[in-house]
Amino acid sequence: MPATCVIGLQWGDEAKGKLVDLLAPKHDVVVRYQGGANAGHTVVSGKEVYKLHHVPSGILAPQIQNVIAPGVVIEPNMLIQELTGLEARGISPRSNLKISERAHVVMPWHLLEDRAMNKTVVNGESIGTTNRGIGPCYRDKVGRTYAMRMADLVSPELPNRIEEIIRAKRTLLASLISSEELAELDPEKITAVCQRWAQSLGGMIGDTTYFLHDQLDAGKKLLMEGAQGSLLDIDHGTFPFVTSSNASGVGVCSGSGVPPRAIKRMIGVAKAYSTRVGGGPFPTELLDETGNKIREIGREYGTTTGRPRRCGWFDAVAVRYTARLSGADYLSLMMLDVLSHFEELKVCVAYEIDGERTDRLPCQPELMRRCKPVYETLPGWNQDVTSVRKLEDFPLKARQYMDRISELISVPLGVLSVGPDREQTIFLI
Ligand code: IMP
Repeated sequence: MPATCVIGLQWGDEAKGKLVDLLAPKHDVVVRYQGGANAGHTVVSGKEVYKLHHVPSGILAPQIQNVIAPGVVIEPNMLIQELTGLEARGISPRSNLKISERAHVVMPWHLLEDRAMNKTVVNGESIGTTNRGIGPCYRDKVGRTYAMRMADLVSPELPNRIEEIIRAKRTLLASLISSEELAELDPEKITAVCQRWAQSLGGMIGDTTYFLHDQLDAGKKLLMEGAQGSLLDIDHGTFPFVTSSNASGVGVCSGSGVPPRAIKRMIGVAKAYSTRVGGGPFPTELLDETGNKIREIGREYGTTTGRPRRCGWFDAVAVRYTARLSGADYLSLMMLDVLSHFEELKVCVAYEIDGERTDRLPCQPELMRRCKPVYETLPGWNQDVTSVRKLEDFPLKARQYMDRISELISVPLGVLSVGPDREQTIFLI
């Protein structure tokens, strides 16, 4: 049985973790295939809330195999903390987690480099990364010469490799980071740190690509868990204000090693409004009381960094683009409860750039910044929906809002979410 993918259609934080957690019991393997500790997935189980960064959201179910695939960049300290945190709560993540030896390692110099580069202004604004070393690690992966993979952590060549890279990094980073920070790059100390990582994680590091192929051959069901969102995709998002991986549906195959023909179902996830963290254009952003109201009701603060998220109306131009890009078969519309107490709601149906109307997302950031949203106004339902469990029980105005979004992006509704708990989910598929 082939794979189902859960893909964010906005700028991340679409509550994908909740959906993956709900779908996981119907699958044999859950696969994380891109991004790293920049992601923060919240999974709620009963009264327990779990915040995951690297670990796939299927980890709570012991019968499900979880895979961190080659496209992920791993910050071992954070991963070990995550595992220890789960263990402290009675879960045994080491028994059902495999980590690809091909996945790249976020090294201490990547963290220093990310922090230093984050002060740099690009197109008049800082990217505002999560400071988790993601960009510098992917940069070294593409550059190859100074890259470190999980396989290197468990190799007898480790001390030589660290020495070789640090020698080069000291020269390369001299103009970017302070002399105190450069002094932290001590080959012996860092080798010892890597050896501790290898000791803790070594038992889980190995092949995942043949493993996934074998699972497919054996008719097992795979669930592919996307991180971030399609508008943050390095090739297709709002560049340069994006992350460094293919966060849209196009990244599933390259990141996991699963072939395109194995993908059976793409579920695109979007909130009923928009949010964004970090810099970059955001045409429907609300810098007013309405934006604050969405932030407070939706508890829109970053899982990884705690930063307040920028909030705005649903942008159907952007989501129509990403739904096509990711090939969404169904829309999972999240956080509908947050919009319960508004007299009216707006949906962006087109942009106006210098007086010209368009329904396409421009490529250049300066054009994106000049996009004025053209809104369609819909009546709010002004009624609590947190206890709705069936489509028929939604207020009519809520049905109209959801149907209009589905129509604008040309994707049928598949899942509706009216709160953080598992039961607050309506499956139409
Ligand atoms: P980086 O991925 O840390 O390099 O950050 C690049 C951009 O992507 C910044 O604007 C971040 O705020 C954003 N970003 C990265 N990961 C996430 C995420 O999981 N959710 C939302 N935004 C993210």
